[in-house]
Amino acid sequence: MEILSGARVVVTGAGAGIGAALARRFAAEGARVVVNDLDAERAEAVAAEIGGTAVPGDASGVVGSARAALGGGIDIFCANAGVAPEGGPEAPEEVWDAAWDVNVKAHVRAAHELLPEWLERGSGRFIATVSAAGLLTMVGSAPYSVTKHAALSFAEWLSLTYRHRGIDVHAICPQGVNTDMLRGTGTTGELVLAPTAIEPEEVADALLDAIAGSRFLVLPHPETARYYAARAADPDRWLSGMNQIQQKVEHAAGQRLRQEAAH
Ligand SMILES: NC(=O)c1ccc[n+]([C@@H]2O[C@H](COP(=O)([O-])OP(=O)(O)OC[C@H]3O[C@@H](n4cnc5c(N)ncnc54)[C@H](O)[C@@H]3O)[C@@H](O)[C@H]2O)c1
Repeated sequence: MEILSGARVVVTGAGAGIGAALARRFAAEGARVVVNDLDAERAEAVAAEIGGTAVPGDASGVVGSARAALGGGIDIFCANAGVAPEGGPEAPEEVWDAAWDVNVKAHVRAAHELLPEWLERGSGRFIATVSAAGLLTMVGSAPYSVTKHAALSFAEWLSLTYRHRGIDVHAICPQGVNTDMLRGTGTTGELVLAPTAIEPEEVADALLDAIAGSRFLVLPHPETARYYAARAADPDRWLSGMNQIQQKVEHAAGQRLRQEAAH
């Protein structure tokens, strides 16, 4: 894709999963890619593989070092790093804080640092890896659902505020994707996400399609649009359907505990 050739790109959380697939795809399109990850070894391995530059560390503080590594400017920023803790209001305060910090505030901080450069130039592209949980809601995880709704809201706000000033924004909202994150979500992941899970490379395909078509919402699982419309049209019916899924997960988790106890 022409606009990606030579583009200066940063991908956070790119040492594995969806971020690594995005970094590989951008590099294959001729972009110069900064690979960020908390895990320095993973960041360096992906950077070495694609001829990019590793900038390890927390996604929240990556813009300055990434800009320096790219020779003074950034064209595309992928706010991809995320955490998916389980639980509800009882989840520890630090768990809620980490979800806000990585899933939302890292996006806000990056935009804060990127916008002056982009507005002055009249171009820039902010790509948020959100989740279908940002449009719908994830059974079993309140911190994930709440912060992904917030991440989507922030991406929408950026898009509606700056689209006439040359800033493009995309929100990637997949359902299950075969990564370590999905594998870490236990019974919920197995029952709800795994059956329709796709590969990280398919998420990269969907993003490139959305960039080519100038579409904000990136839905690697097209059926998400239907669920989103159903939720808006009849919230009580949608909530009842989601509650059925919750009950199935509770039932399966109970069965699993009984089997483990019997062994
Ligand atoms: N896997 C799914 O089913 C799925 C579905 C929808 C959305 N997502 C979203 O996609 C994004 C990527 O998830 P994934 O499935 O590829 O996960 P993953 O666990 O495979 O990879 C995430 C990477 O991010 C890194 N990371 C975590 N916190 C970081 C931080 N603060 N700073 C820098 N790096 C950090 C991890 O070290 C890891 O290498 C997340 O935002 C996630 O919420 C995932």
